[in-house]
Amino acid sequence: MRRIEIFDTTLRDGEQSPGVALNVEEKLQIAFQLAKLGVNVLEAGFPIASPGDFQSVSRIAKEVRTVGIAALARTQELDIERAWEAIKVAEYPRIHTFIATSPIHMRAKLQKSPEEVLEQAVQAVRLAKSKVSDVEFSAEDASRSELDFLARIFSKVIEAGATVLNIPDTVGYATPDEFAAFVKAVMDKTDGIEKVKVSVHCHNDLGLAVANSLAALNVGVQQLECTINGIGERAGNAALEELVMALKTRRDRYRFETGIVTTEIARTSQLVARLTGMMVQHNKAIVGKNAFAHESGIHQDGVLKERQTYEIMSPASIGLDVDSIVLGKHSGRHAVRQRLAELGLELDDRKFEEMFNRFKVLAERKREVTTADLFSLVEAPGAEEQVVLDYFQVSSGTNMVPTATVALKYREQEYKDAACGDGPVDAAFKAIDKVLGTKGKLMHYSLQAIDGGEDAQGEVTVAVQFGEHLVGGRGVSTDIIEGSVKAYLQAVNRAIERGWIDLAK
Ligand code: KIV
Ligand code: ZN
Repeated sequence: MRRIEIFDTTLRDGEQSPGVALNVEEKLQIAFQLAKLGVNVLEAGFPIASPGDFQSVSRIAKEVRTVGIAALARTQELDIERAWEAIKVAEYPRIHTFIATSPIHMRAKLQKSPEEVLEQAVQAVRLAKSKVSDVEFSAEDASRSELDFLARIFSKVIEAGATVLNIPDTVGYATPDEFAAFVKAVMDKTDGIEKVKVSVHCHNDLGLAVANSLAALNVGVQQLECTINGIGERAGNAALEELVMALKTRRDRYRFETGIVTTEIARTSQLVARLTGMMVQHNKAIVGKNAFAHESGIHQDGVLKERQTYEIMSPASIGLDVDSIVLGKHSGRHAVRQRLAELGLELDDRKFEEMFNRFKVLAERKREVTTADLFSLVEAPGAEEQVVLDYFQVSSGTNMVPTATVALKYREQEYKDAACGDGPVDAAFKAIDKVLGTKGKLMHYSLQAIDGGEDAQGEVTVAVQFGEHLVGGRGVSTDIIEGSVKAYLQAVNRAIERGWIDLAK
């Protein structure tokens, strides 16, 4: 068995998904969970991109001590300085620098000759190496680059001190056999390849990211780059849970192992889905709601007789809690605390009290508070909530125009207004915009029940465009209009936090 390293880029490439905008606390919460999951390196962000990115990378570097922390930098001096500034306090820091090497990227995007690109890459790796021993170099769009040029640039950056070489299929164009052959050819032609780790980073535009990554393992790759739930630019990145469970379930074919604690997979997936607002499709491999559900009579009969008839891995192996424990309005602090501890959710006293108050409110509305509900109650605080819901009222029906009144608090003052809409949710969103003087354009809306049952909580996720910025929000309630209002307000608060809305105006 050969040990493969898992490089998680949920907080960098994953966070580049349209509509995702995590705040520092949310990123930190995900980073801690990734450490618990056992990733080897987590890419915490792109520090030069914004002050918020810089701040979250530094917080993660300071607080998450058990795994490697990578920061992304273009092959530019300022990027590298900023990346180093953000991660220098980490226990295991890594600078990850990249430049595009394909003819189309060099000509059209960078407007540089191959020699200039090579020179810039070498300088950047040298500079990064002067700061930290662990330096990763990525050749962006490697799979569409010329083999000889790629091998030449890789040989030179190894000489300059790179310790990891990454071969991204940036646009998800490769196919498995072709990609494996290409990676092998690059490795064969690169001088000094035995001194470094080789990594691949596959995008999913053709749905082949996982297949391409697995194919590359067979030719000697030692690191896989991936994200939780496969989130990322466009169609996303290779999904960590799919890679890891393929290696584990088919260890007869793939003689590799990872350090991933697979029983943390479900929890990590749910956390990332909840905080990013990117819900997992029901039939998604490994972590989709239906991944372990057996619907047809023949299948149910088979599973009851022997699970392996239709189950190639057990729900327990990814930490799925099949017999979700039920708490209710009579449950006390002790029971709730104990259940949280079993779920690995540790809260300090203040956070526990806040959570327990939310639990009581929910338990009054709902017969059973399930494990899934508990996760929704224990989420990280959202963006610093500047705008807070005081109350809302809606009226709608078959023969009337839906109307909503919304009262909001902002800086200790209460503001309220009313608006009509196509439906009660639309009316409520319009009323919020009227109160705040904002103009949000709803680009995405989804509602799903957190758990089964007629009294389930509804989880609403929205993506709202303010000006040119798309921002996500999420709200949970037994009342779907309240859930929708909370989701919209979370998007508003995130946009305020990032300076995309200025209420002072
Ligand atoms: O897809 C890509 O090429 C990247 C690089 C920055 C590694 O994300
Ligand atoms: Zn990428």
